[in-house]
Amino acid sequence: MTDERRSSNPSRIPPPPGAEGVPHEVFHDVYRRSKALWVTGRPQPAVLTAIERGWFREGPLFDAGCGTGENAIAIAKAHPSLRILAMDAVPEAVDAAAVAGREAGVADRISFEVADLRTEGPPSEYACVLDAGVLHVFSDVDRPRYLQVVHDVLQPGGAAIFIVFSTEEIRPGGPRRLDREELLSSIEAAGFRVDSIEKARYETLGHEGGARSWLVRAFRALAPPDAT
Ligand SMILES: C[S@@+](CC[C@H](N)C(=O)[O-])C[C@H]1O[C@@H](n2cnc3c(N)ncnc32)[C@H](O)[C@@H]1O
Repeated sequence: MTDERRSSNPSRIPPPPGAEGVPHEVFHDVYRRSKALWVTGRPQPAVLTAIERGWFREGPLFDAGCGTGENAIAIAKAHPSLRILAMDAVPEAVDAAAVAGREAGVADRISFEVADLRTEGPPSEYACVLDAGVLHVFSDVDRPRYLQVVHDVLQPGGAAIFIVFSTEEIRPGGPRRLDREELLSSIEAAGFRVDSIEKARYETLGHEGGARSWLVRAFRALAPPDAT
């Protein structure tokens, strides 16, 4: 993604990654060295849609891969009693998010913390998880690991909301693109029931009108009844 900013010549922009995913170091580099394309300074339009629909009404909320916090802060402002834990692998992003949370006056309700969500997440006490533009960064090996963490963070019956680049997005560079079937099967294989999937846009500084994406809402399957 940094390459997209460095070059105005589209032929020099590498194609999106395949099964190998976006190299993890890219995220550390991009926050350290430049402004990431997805840091637009405002929440994602699809997150605002989800807020309007009341999808974050039930808390607490876990924002997975929160970046610099714009989405979590918008949700906190829309729901004044909601408690949010927001995590990202990159300390620079988490620090910037914490500053933004203080400036927005919501620091008492959002905790920003560093974690690599391929391997660890908080205990399962969340009614909702937001993944805005995170699932599509992972390799085929890491995607199920990450989805397991997202699944385990949720209470049974809790909701996960994903915004994921779709194969309709043809601009070079950027993260992976997932088609409808691949996305649905990955989410369902992790123990979710998909409630809705629709076309959406993921706003960046490099995709006019936003990158073509999917907005998905899925619920963690309820625990089976106790046999005893
Ligand atoms: C496209 S950005 C989206 C950021 C934010 N959700 C937003 O919409 O503004 C993807 C984010 O995922 C984070 N990320 C990538 N791999 C991660 C991992 N293994 N654990 C936690 N966060 C990760 C990156 O640091 C980056 O902030």
